[in-house]
Amino acid sequence: MFGYEEQEIIGNDIGLLWGPRPSEFRSNGRWATRGWSRRGTAIRKDGTSFPAALTMVTDRTATDAFTTAVLQDLGAGDDAERQVQELQSELARLARLNELGEMASTLAHELTQPLAAIANYSQGCSRLMASEHTQTGEQLQNVLQEITQHALRAGDIIRHLREFITRGGGEKRLEHIQQLTEEAMKLALMGSRLAGIETELCFEAKRDLALVDRIQIEQVLMNLIRNAIEAMDSIEDPKLTITTRNESDNTIVVEVSDTGSGISAEVEGVLFRPFVSSKPRGLGIGLAMSKRIIEAHGGRINGRRRACGGSTFTFSLPLKEGPPHVQ
Ligand SMILES: Nc1ncnc2c1ncn2[C@@H]1O[C@H](COP(=O)(O)OP(=O)(O)OP(=O)(O)O)[C@@H](O)[C@H]1O
Ligand SMILES: [Mg+2]
Repeated sequence: MFGYEEQEIIGNDIGLLWGPRPSEFRSNGRWATRGWSRRGTAIRKDGTSFPAALTMVTDRTATDAFTTAVLQDLGAGDDAERQVQELQSELARLARLNELGEMASTLAHELTQPLAAIANYSQGCSRLMASEHTQTGEQLQNVLQEITQHALRAGDIIRHLREFITRGGGEKRLEHIQQLTEEAMKLALMGSRLAGIETELCFEAKRDLALVDRIQIEQVLMNLIRNAIEAMDSIEDPKLTITTRNESDNTIVVEVSDTGSGISAEVEGVLFRPFVSSKPRGLGIGLAMSKRIIEAHGGRINGRRRACGGSTFTFSLPLKEGPPHVQ
């Protein structure tokens, strides 16, 4: 470690191996009586040095005093420590980047729907105005109202995501889940794709009051409904059914079923993993995000193929305790 032969060391002062002696190294002309430990520099025979920790412990008997010095080479350890620190800060940086990327994808995903609806309705509005038939103000007003509603929703999503980033979650309130379901159904079905889809709502739950973030749960429902519609794209007699029921006294289950293509074998086991998609223009983030939201609310989500064709996606949410409270 130091490059000395044994006989060169024996009988020598420890100062031979250690850098400038700190003043507390001796007290009153003797080795310090207490244990002593310090980081410093150890010096090799050839004059080169390396970082080291020196620990000195003195053991006194009635007649003698023995001092044990332990010198620990910190060179390798410091390197390893530095590497761990560098790795940790790199990991933190990557985690931040990843989170940012995920946020950006989520935002892109959620804004697609209201923006597409705004574009559709605006085009419709122009056509109405350009058409030769005289349009009533009422017709135009209806279309403009739809545009306003979607623009407000886009704003809501952005505000909500900002809250999510700064506070780690949106605000939870007591909400009637069946009411949210109806609203989400309306929002998701609004626009052109409703055409030709038979929809059915079967609200069987007697209790549906839960402490939730309304926008988040609506996002989950809209993701599931959108997926169902997309799965029924070229299917005859498409039918979308949403059922609610109380699985136990303290749980509500919401089931979104379609008569579409069914879950394909490639994605079956990885449905809820981010960026898994079988669609040419799909981001593959809808279900991953839905799972995150439902689990953050203490619920569970799963999807399965239906025996009669199509798929069923189910999520559960814990209810607020108390007597039946359906509005
Ligand atoms: N109702 C459904 N029927 C059949 N397959 C489905 C259904 N819902 C989801 N899937 C499958 O799960 C995949 C992942 O769905 P997810 O909603 O996460 O992403 P996506 O719909 O492909 O894209 P996007 O991010 O735009 O929602 C889909 O690509 C599809 O293969
Ligand atoms: Mg989707």
